[in-house]
Amino acid sequence: MAAATEVPDEPGQPPALTALSLAQQSQAMTKEQIITPFDVSGGVDEHGKPIAIDYNKLIDKFGSQRIDGALLERFEKATGHRAHRLLRRGMVFSHRDLTVILDKYEKGVPFFLYTGRGPSSDSMHVGHSIPFEFTKYLQDVFNVPLVIMLTDDEKFFHTAKLTQKECRRFAMQNAMDIIAIGFDMKKTFIFADSEFTESAFAGAFNENVREMGKRTTANQIRHTFGFTDSNNISEFHFPAMQSATSFATSFPFIFGYDTKKVSKIPCLIPCAIDQDPYFRQCRDNAPRLKLPKPAIIHTVFLPSLRGSESKMSASDVDSSIFLSDTDKQIKKKIGQAFSGGQETLEEQREKGGRTNVDVPFQYLTFFLEDDDKLEELRTGYESGKIASGDMKAACTKELQAYVSAFRERRKAVTEKVREEFMRPRQLEFTGMPSEEEQKAARKTKFAALLGSLSLDDIEFLRQEKTNQDS
Ligand code: TRP
Repeated sequence: MAAATEVPDEPGQPPALTALSLAQQSQAMTKEQIITPFDVSGGVDEHGKPIAIDYNKLIDKFGSQRIDGALLERFEKATGHRAHRLLRRGMVFSHRDLTVILDKYEKGVPFFLYTGRGPSSDSMHVGHSIPFEFTKYLQDVFNVPLVIMLTDDEKFFHTAKLTQKECRRFAMQNAMDIIAIGFDMKKTFIFADSEFTESAFAGAFNENVREMGKRTTANQIRHTFGFTDSNNISEFHFPAMQSATSFATSFPFIFGYDTKKVSKIPCLIPCAIDQDPYFRQCRDNAPRLKLPKPAIIHTVFLPSLRGSESKMSASDVDSSIFLSDTDKQIKKKIGQAFSGGQETLEEQREKGGRTNVDVPFQYLTFFLEDDDKLEELRTGYESGKIASGDMKAACTKELQAYVSAFRERRKAVTEKVREEFMRPRQLEFTGMPSEEEQKAARKTKFAALLGSLSLDDIEFLRQEKTNQDS
């Protein structure tokens, strides 16, 4: 990219490649990866070959925090549950302020979860279900309320060919699929923007949208999302909607009407990394509303069946396994997926396969629960003991089981069930502890910690503290 743009070009003409040296020409083939809420693609190397998304680079570029072993350990301690396989294997890889949420949670301060989906079609694929499955896990281990936002307005603003009616229909359809992931009705509120904002329950939400809108400049939006003067004005305004859902005060029917107390309830947002710009924007402006910045936890994308340079896309049928696919379709699609195996079985036995680009193996890292089995497949494949056909068979079996379990749960989701999830109502929520209760929780924790130490340990800590202070 860089080299080509250094050469002055005629407006409207392609870059004058002929004016470049050979080295510059090859550099000109390279393309940086693009990750925004509206476009996700890996980069291109100097030979024009697509390369996989580099998530480490994203952490540096976005300025988020890596999730490391120490944080996982702390997470397991705080929740009393084993880390989800997506956490253990680094597919949930980055965060903002997760430690702040854990600090508060340990003192008995509850929080709420917020996630969402842009309903751009009526069919969801297994890549969409990943962040939702992880969200369900978080809801289970923390036992907290969850708000799910379906942005039918966003999809309408951003997609030339979609009508409002279609987007709303997709939202209702998607809601049923999302419910089938297994969320707890007593703790989950789902809403579609167009329907909710017109209801009598949206007063406080709309107020927060206006507060956010007033404090967001067109400059910020241009900078954060790369919009130009050709983007429509609704696109410029929409981020205020996605932000407003991060604040507990937007939902008094869930959290209560004591604004002072409710404004202290923190929010944790599990989302795919492409949504980070929205919440960076929200975090920048939240202090101006005197409201807490939401914490965020980021997941990677499920690679496309075509290879790990791109994510699954609902508009490219052969790139994805849909939650509505039959066992036969799944088998066929995995059979044609990009393989990291060698050309012939002989070669495979001799050189082994490349698990880092093998799509069936990559999928198993997302869907196979058993760590030992996964390790067996990895070493077996790399050493050439396991053929690519066997890897595909293992992957097919796992995805068929995943989708058929989903299919069963989906059957139980009726229109009535959907309506109940989408009805504004109180959710089960322990409520904010008083100052005294928080103090008592801290005391209990202090005593428990102290009880686990010997006198020697305490003496060591005391000395170490003096040493480090001096
Ligand atoms: N903008 C998201 C999309 O297009 C939908 C969304 C709204 C969302 N709020 C969210 C996703 C919070 C994750 C977390 O898919």
